[in-house]
Amino acid sequence: MRVLVTGAAGMVGRAVAAHCNSQGDLVLPYDHESLDISDKDLVMKTLRGVKPEVVINCAAWTNVDGCELNPERAYAANARGPENLAKASREISAVLVTISTDYVFDGEKQGFFTQRDQPNPQSVYGASKLEGERRTQLAYARTVVARTGFVFGPGGSNFLSTIIERAGRGERLKAITDAYGTPTYAPDLARRLRELAQLDLPGTYQVVNAGEGVSYAEFARAALDLGGYASGNLESVAMGSLNRPAPRPRNSRLRCLLSEAIGLAPLPFWQDSLREFVALNSPNEVAAKG
Ligand SMILES: NC(=O)c1ccc[n+]([C@@H]2O[C@H](COP(=O)([O-])OP(=O)(O)OC[C@H]3O[C@@H](n4cnc5c(N)ncnc54)[C@H](OP(=O)(O)O)[C@@H]3O)[C@@H](O)[C@H]2O)c1
Repeated sequence: MRVLVTGAAGMVGRAVAAHCNSQGDLVLPYDHESLDISDKDLVMKTLRGVKPEVVINCAAWTNVDGCELNPERAYAANARGPENLAKASREISAVLVTISTDYVFDGEKQGFFTQRDQPNPQSVYGASKLEGERRTQLAYARTVVARTGFVFGPGGSNFLSTIIERAGRGERLKAITDAYGTPTYAPDLARRLRELAQLDLPGTYQVVNAGEGVSYAEFARAALDLGGYASGNLESVAMGSLNRPAPRPRNSRLRCLLSEAIGLAPLPFWQDSLREFVALNSPNEVAAKG
């Protein structure tokens, strides 16, 4: 397939480009500098020029607190950007896969959020991403929205990499005990996004690793245990004590009503993917890579 990837320098963008490459696709990776998705004319010109069969949108402004303080920038990247991609994809008849977030939900539910639950974002980030879902689906019927959450993987400044890095330096760490999600390993997500593009069945999917979900603190502890780091340096804190500008859902565990119904096998349990990630990030492995 001829696959255009936006946000290709980000954590998920890299994983998607790498996975598509490994499958023999012709990958057209665009980072923020080479394609700002909020630039409508540039998006149209680029897509018309390179004519991908599939567009996988991994670009977003993911700084949740930054979005709260700068809604204009949040909506440009997370709502109008995806809409620009949808209009341009429609023009060239490409399948569009765009990523959304567990933060479209308010977290005020026990159990898993599915597609039957009404989104009710509490932050500008969540609201801008929901607006991105709606605008893309309105602009172009052949859109796949893939919500995900708690993403971890190589190449990003994500919660887990930071924890492992700091644990390696013996620093004291803080992790939240009262916010729960379903972890998602970027390479597993990348594989599922490509499968969804191939299936070309428009709709809203929820893509996370299998398992019951976990709090940030439990997740961090599991990673430290697997990596052989002392978890004694890990201090458990309540979400409210951090006084961050943007509210976050207390529970944003996701489950998909559609994936298995259309024949997709569940992604691996997050514990297994975490084991793989930690092994790749262990000091020996990093040293061996030079
Ligand atoms: N990470 C998570 O836990 C998580 C959870 C739920 C959903 N998601 C979703 O997953 C997707 C991928 O996120 P990620 O974790 O890979 O985040 P990331 O590492 O921050 O990557 C996002 C990339 O998008 C780029 N970008 C920002 N604004 C852009 C614009 N206007 N035009 C083009 N590129 C732009 C960023 O470049 P700069 O850094 O140069 O701005 C960055 O390289 C996003 O849709 C995000 O909302 C992530």
